[in-house]
Amino acid sequence: MQICVLFGGPHKNGNTAKLLAKVLDGAKSQGHSVELFHLVDMDIRPCKGCMACKKPKANGCVQKDDMGKIYEALRQCDLLILASPMYWWNLAGPLKDAVDRFFALPFAAGREQSIFAGKKLMLVMTSGQAAEHDGREGLELILQKMCQFTGMTWLGTVTAGTNDKSLDEQPQVLEKAYAIGAGL
Ligand SMILES: Cc1cc2nc3c(=O)[nH]c(=O)nc-3n(C[C@H](O)[C@H](O)[C@H](O)COP(=O)(O)O)c2cc1C
Repeated sequence: MQICVLFGGPHKNGNTAKLLAKVLDGAKSQGHSVELFHLVDMDIRPCKGCMACKKPKANGCVQKDDMGKIYEALRQCDLLILASPMYWWNLAGPLKDAVDRFFALPFAAGREQSIFAGKKLMLVMTSGQAAEHDGREGLELILQKMCQFTGMTWLGTVTAGTNDKSLDEQPQVLEKAYAIGAGL
């Protein structure tokens, strides 16, 4: 299976990166391939809402930035992982910007050949609040709606509450993340 990971957080060695690394180590142990994008290092501009991508003879997004690499990876992958710290009950900004730009691809499973149809979607997220009451239900509902509309299958969230301490202090959480990755 080909896995595309869009990492939206600012910390490459932070808690989200640690949790994600375990999921990916587990996935790689089963022979899955991973392509990981650190969005903060990339030139990905916000959607302009120009609707040029929806004109009859449109050829994708008119903005020619690093999103082109992600469009290619999205077409190729079987599983898309969105990885982000929870920022205000939501995805971090760079990841939200990238997701908005999905608009330039055929995405509506009911009306056109969605490039997302048949793929799987997973969220990897850490939060300051304990995972049981971090309030991520709203975000998960949005991602489930996205799956319904685009034809993806929602795999759920791998999550950890950090209380702003290092996840190294929660080895059982990291072990569980590895097991989830190995079960993909
Ligand atoms: C701008 C900002 C917004 C945040 N919003 C939330 C939030 O809504 N809920 C929450 O539980 N934690 C929130 N946090 C805490 C982070 O989600 C948490 O510390 C996370 O584990 C950081 O991950 P990182 O080490 O990968 O950066 C916020 C932190 C920042 C900097």
